[in-house]
Amino acid sequence: MSNKLIIGMFGFGVVGQGLYDIIKTKKLNLEIKKFVIKNADKKRSLPAELFTTDAEAILGDTEINTVVELIDDAEAAFEITKRALKSGKNVVSANKKMIATHLEELAEIQQEYGTSLLYEGAVCGSIPIIRNLEEYYDNELLHSVSGIFNGSSNYILSKIFNENQSYDTALRKAQELGFAETDPTLDVGGYDPKYKLAIVASHAYGIYVDPETILNLGIDKLGEQDIRFAKEKGFKIKLLPLAKEIDPNQVVLYVLPKFIHSDNILFNVENENNGVLVKAAFADEQFFYGKGAGGHPTGSAVLSDITALRYGYRYEYKKHLDAGQIAYNTDYQLKVYFRYAEEETLSQLQFNSISERFYGENFKYVIGEINLNEIINKRAIIHQTGNFLAEIL
Ligand code: HSE
Repeated sequence: MSNKLIIGMFGFGVVGQGLYDIIKTKKLNLEIKKFVIKNADKKRSLPAELFTTDAEAILGDTEINTVVELIDDAEAAFEITKRALKSGKNVVSANKKMIATHLEELAEIQQEYGTSLLYEGAVCGSIPIIRNLEEYYDNELLHSVSGIFNGSSNYILSKIFNENQSYDTALRKAQELGFAETDPTLDVGGYDPKYKLAIVASHAYGIYVDPETILNLGIDKLGEQDIRFAKEKGFKIKLLPLAKEIDPNQVVLYVLPKFIHSDNILFNVENENNGVLVKAAFADEQFFYGKGAGGHPTGSAVLSDITALRYGYRYEYKKHLDAGQIAYNTDYQLKVYFRYAEEETLSQLQFNSISERFYGENFKYVIGEINLNEIINKRAIIHQTGNFLAEIL
């Protein structure tokens, strides 16, 4: 028999509305008692008495046993989540920045107070990757987890590569469709997929890594020359996070744009779709594909967490117990393409080897081997306007 959930929901944006649309169509043992929203004046599709701007209406209501947290502000979301978990309420959240940044503390609070925080909707929309990493790959040695974790940048790249749309037009469309973050720099700069990567790495390898220490370069500096270069060589550019075992006890994590060929399974993942590629010692390669953004796909993941709570589901964080010796390491060699505007920029970067070089008046690039640490240390130089760096797979 399932437990009845009395829900208080924070936020009623794209995902909140999507979740509500789905819940409406179902007969579930749950009730949404209150919505806390920021803007009281906005016209809503539900009766006004369901909405309030007072967080206490949920956090102070002892009848509410489940909090669904779908707001933008990561620090406000953290305060809500902490308080709810500590007062005996279970929480479902889709706030990737909040979870990635505070996961260790949130796991401890769950342990101490016996409450549960679920966040499938925070990573790759409708793709059920967290529960699979947690349960299915419980005892499997994972070589790597990578893929397309950001719907907006993938949408933009698809429109550029397949329909010759401009970057700005495609970004506007992603915003109109509700895929992009309120600040789209989080998408195109690779921050959003980095938060998702930190969460994935935690469930894949049992490690807590501060996302601030993970390299992310995005597609915000992509230029015409890079697109032409990619097309001429039969590549597409995709923004790909990677978590990879580089030694038995060492894991590397980073987010970079990458040139990929048509034999790569991610080549045909287009628009707002996401793909997660898991390489495991015994299961070998497995690929998860689905919509990574949008109200209904993300709402369906949130609903899956809500319904799991009816049966007392919680993440056990089992891998963290055995992960004592696994360490995050950034000493890793990459093959990259680097387009640069000023010769001086190139002279400031230490490549281990250069295999190709082009020098024209309006287009200069090198292809070579460079250490991830060098990219991290020189990130500010690399990320200047006029430069673009992408890994070559
Ligand atoms: N802005 C995010 C994306 C939303 O584009 O993937 C889903 O997390």
